[in-house]
Amino acid sequence: MKPVEIREKYISFFESKGHKQIPSAPVVPENDPSVLFNTAGMQPLVPYLMGQPHPYGTRLCDYQKCMRTNDLDEVGDVTHHTFFEMLGNWSLGDYFKKESITWSFELLTKVLEIPVERLAVTVFRGNDIVAADDESADVWRSLGIPEKRIKYLGEDDNWWPNMELTGPCGPDTEIFYFRSEDAIPEEFNPEDDRWVEIWNNVFMQYNHNEDGTFSELPKKNVDTGMGLERITAVLEGVTDNYASSIWTDVIAKIEEISGLPYKGNEKAMRIIADHIRSAVFVSADPAGIKPSNTDQGYILRRLIRRAIRYAKKLNIDINSNWEEEIAITIMDKYEKYYKEIEENRNVVLEVLRNEKVKFNRTLEKGLKEFEKIASKIENGKMDKDNAFRLYDTFGFPIELTVELGAEMGIEVDEEGFKEKFKAHQELSRAGAKDKFKGGLAATGDVETQYHTATHLLNAALKVVVNKDVHQKGSNITAERMRFDFSCDHKLTDEEKQKVEALVNEWIDAGYEVTRTEMSKDEAIKSGAECMFIERYPDVVTVYKIADVSAELCGGPHVENTSKIPHIKIKKEEAVSAGVRRIKAVFVQ
Ligand code: ALA
Repeated sequence: MKPVEIREKYISFFESKGHKQIPSAPVVPENDPSVLFNTAGMQPLVPYLMGQPHPYGTRLCDYQKCMRTNDLDEVGDVTHHTFFEMLGNWSLGDYFKKESITWSFELLTKVLEIPVERLAVTVFRGNDIVAADDESADVWRSLGIPEKRIKYLGEDDNWWPNMELTGPCGPDTEIFYFRSEDAIPEEFNPEDDRWVEIWNNVFMQYNHNEDGTFSELPKKNVDTGMGLERITAVLEGVTDNYASSIWTDVIAKIEEISGLPYKGNEKAMRIIADHIRSAVFVSADPAGIKPSNTDQGYILRRLIRRAIRYAKKLNIDINSNWEEEIAITIMDKYEKYYKEIEENRNVVLEVLRNEKVKFNRTLEKGLKEFEKIASKIENGKMDKDNAFRLYDTFGFPIELTVELGAEMGIEVDEEGFKEKFKAHQELSRAGAKDKFKGGLAATGDVETQYHTATHLLNAALKVVVNKDVHQKGSNITAERMRFDFSCDHKLTDEEKQKVEALVNEWIDAGYEVTRTEMSKDEAIKSGAECMFIERYPDVVTVYKIADVSAELCGGPHVENTSKIPHIKIKKEEAVSAGVRRIKAVFVQ
């Protein structure tokens, strides 16, 4: 059965049981900074599981975009995915165990037509908080699940999410399917991995508090989750998830691009398929995630870079538009279900392309460097300095270095790397703070003079060229100032001369430069100029130069414009669309 049909049958089944379909929430949580991605269908529903009324009522169902990245480096085998869709249904203090179990059984055996002989279940054995779940076991028995196919397990298996995480939780009952051509054993053994878990029904009736205690939630809820990738593979009778119809077109596209068959190249093709799909969903998300070195951006970067490395292993020409073709195959399939895919197709392609170009510039050199380092290693260990160099100079995420090392029997000092990485981050943060102070790396006397001169230049451009000119950047050394500003045309010679003359006139006027602290709101209201308002704290410093200039700025500045030499504009050029750059120097 195709996933299109499974989604549809799942939703209409639960609608027939009085549930309302809710839209999938973004894969990047909107109001929950504690997690990078939604890892389960219930995540966006936490406030409602905690007792808040849901606008759609007490019976909900959906298919939710999820990402689990703990096992990112495991992707490549038959079962692991990073992104997946979870089919879910919820009772918010409405029905409880009996209905939940009965409906799961009905959907599996009647709608999806799974033979009862292939099913087995686990229920909770009990702990200090709650007794053994005989109620669920009774329901399963009454539906026709034989005694030998019902197992009682403890907290490690049948408490969701687990005993450590805080938030709503509870005992669960899990449904297993016998996925093998072998004769089905009469007795269910949860340790036997021919039995695969397909559905989890959690009886969310507790809250795990911050202080470690468990308290009853205001209402007894049900939270269920069934992974679409796995149920599709089960229903299509394949043991490799990537052989199901969810993936066939994507794998076929990779075969076509590489000219190689899936057989014999499974690992690389699964990694490329999975990682590009995840990168599509993350970069299409309304959160606007871009590859970076932190949080979701770092995961996105790792996904794309790992996909590129495996594409290279398949001898795909990295400079061709292979990633675009794969992403398009994926987007064509999902845009019907997720509107952000339809809306952000170009954003996705741009993210993939830019990251590819960036990584590609250093990948080849980095791999060579890796080999060089590896050839000198005698004790089978790569030290933190080399791992850091691969990261810093060649853009190798540490996980990539570890993976490459493992392929060659080299252990990488990951801990050491992390310490070094942290120290480096603190340094660059301190550096960023210095920059934030006003674009000054060093603040000698000349740089300070140049700094005040940029304020005058900014003000003069507004007078001479256009009042809507704004600063886009600046860079100062002891030798010159560089100033970027928004402007739709090349400055004429006359404009340049006027700007220069006005700045020099203000210098000669000997205006006082004053520094005032005020609230950010007040500063904005007063019309003070500011480049990145959101980057400033609530209380800001405003530097005023008589009536000619007022800017939010960290300083430092000269006290009086008479302390500045005259300026001369040396160059005026384009930086990018709508942004011009002036280089100017002091003339003594
Ligand atoms: N929230 C439960 C899970 O993710 C249903 O397994």
